[in-house]
Amino acid sequence: MEVIIRPTAAAAADLVATLIDRAVRQRPDLVLGLATGRTMEAVYALLAERHRTQGLDFSGCRTFNLDEYVGLPPGDPNAYRYYMERHLFGRINIDRRRTHLPDGMAADLDAACAAYEQAIADAGGIDFQLLGIGHDGHIGFNEPLSALRSRTRVKALTPQTVAANAPLFDPPTRMPRRAITMGVGTILDSRRCVLLATGASKADILARAVEGPITAMVSASALQLHPRCTIVVDEAAAAHLQGRDYYRFIFDNEPEWKAFH
Ligand code: F6R
Repeated sequence: MEVIIRPTAAAAADLVATLIDRAVRQRPDLVLGLATGRTMEAVYALLAERHRTQGLDFSGCRTFNLDEYVGLPPGDPNAYRYYMERHLFGRINIDRRRTHLPDGMAADLDAACAAYEQAIADAGGIDFQLLGIGHDGHIGFNEPLSALRSRTRVKALTPQTVAANAPLFDPPTRMPRRAITMGVGTILDSRRCVLLATGASKADILARAVEGPITAMVSASALQLHPRCTIVVDEAAAAHLQGRDYYRFIFDNEPEWKAFH
């Protein structure tokens, strides 16, 4: 695991967009794992901008989103399919048949989860997984006590997650209480993962995930087991990290990061 601290949320999102940009240019048939949420909006805006002005080409990519609410059709303004269309897919040149989200409307949800795992395997696995982190430490919707080896399945959301996301629904009580999410094990199988966290409200949970013990109580702490995981944060989200000076030293001195200075 490596931690990169940028001065602002905008600079952190820019660095993540650049990592994705490079990965897509290096491998035009990249299999991208995608996240939703407020934090990612800045990243997708930058990717759309790079597509428009710098020829960033997504036509060969395939995408798999981490999660989708149970019971919301794709056209619902709160569905993650709708979010992706609005923030990214509708603004870049990606073939919709190559974009995948779990089917929260399936009559047989367990079968839909198994089919999602199979589709990821058939694509050859996820090359680059983008992640955010919830205030309860979730990645995807892997709420506390998610098994560290869990696969795609239906998960009940915590009151904390409902409180964080319900204001986005009209009325807030319309928010589903369950979602389909890739498992922690599914995420750990990705070849590279990048977690973006910004803002002071993420500082406490981020420190627990990065520097605390690996525990199913904080799903993001499982990323300590990932062979190639980069955590990108702004100063506000980095505030509770004990190793800040060391992380800054790495960013300032490792050749890999020179181009970002
Ligand atoms: C959603 C997802 C979640 C979010 C997390 C942070 O697809 O994967 O884990 O990344 O809830 O959300 P924001 O960015 O809204 O704080």
